[in-house]
Amino acid sequence: MSVLAAGGMMPLTTRAAISTPFTFDLEPPMTAREAFVEWMVNNRGEDRHFLGQRWDRLQAMVEHKDVWDDVVKRAFLLTPREEFVQKVNRSHSYDHNFLDIGYGVTISGPHLVGRMTNSLEIKQGDKVLEIGTGSGFQSSFLAHLTDKCYSIEIIKPLAERTRGVYDELIGRGYSEFQNITTKNADGYYGWEEFAPFDKIIVTCGIDHVPPPLLKQLQPQGVMLVPIGPPGAQRVLKIIKGVEADGSTHIARTDIYNGRIVPFVPFKKLDGDKISGTHNT
Ligand SMILES: C[S@@+](CC[C@H](N)C(=O)[O-])C[C@H]1O[C@@H](n2cnc3c(N)ncnc32)[C@H](O)[C@@H]1O
Repeated sequence: MSVLAAGGMMPLTTRAAISTPFTFDLEPPMTAREAFVEWMVNNRGEDRHFLGQRWDRLQAMVEHKDVWDDVVKRAFLLTPREEFVQKVNRSHSYDHNFLDIGYGVTISGPHLVGRMTNSLEIKQGDKVLEIGTGSGFQSSFLAHLTDKCYSIEIIKPLAERTRGVYDELIGRGYSEFQNITTKNADGYYGWEEFAPFDKIIVTCGIDHVPPPLLKQLQPQGVMLVPIGPPGAQRVLKIIKGVEADGSTHIARTDIYNGRIVPFVPFKKLDGDKISGTHNT
């Protein structure tokens, strides 16, 4: 079945396959809206209406200092957020706000995702772990910055649905999403098999830094994690230091200078049932 996007745009299932596959040196025009939109239509087969909205949202993010590095701006411009929101919300893909994605959880707003992503200071080749795959948007943004993204989602049907979104997009030519490895599990315990990670991004709120995640972070690695009581977290950037004697210390900064940013709770898996949270 073909689904018409809001506003009479191109049906999402009949889009042209991508003619120019992603590479880390792909350079869409970044100085003028019209040139960007034309280039993306011709090279990536995307819808010009959404492309215009994506451009405009990025300008607002830059103005609010949510994104500052060119490489992160480019990654945002290459990420089709409209593919990760619910169909009913497609016309709101580039709104400032978070949106419902079912199962009682949300896709975070672009400004928050932008600020957390830029704060991670990802270098190409970094191994990045995300806790809370959700819609898949955050990891798809990361996949334009490094080829090693790992993402864990606790809600099984959501993890499966989002895996399906990635696979469908890969089938359409978004080869960069092959950079994302996913699993359904409780992310509190990290992903030992692929540890250590250069960067970790936690997209659900908790009242402490999960010790297994800190352990799986490289020395000098960076973790972005919303810490605080339910519904009132502060988004901390944590840098892990390791002394000559092997002891670990962390340096923290608040990427919103003390502003409260509410997040979906960091839930706990008990057997195969989600039960309560990891708060102490
Ligand atoms: C704000 S939402 C999703 C944001 C997501 N990064 C995106 O781009 O859409 C946070 C996600 O964390 C998930 N989550 C909560 N507790 C978790 C846990 N213990 N392990 C893994 N994921 C968890 C939720 O189910 C939810 O999907």
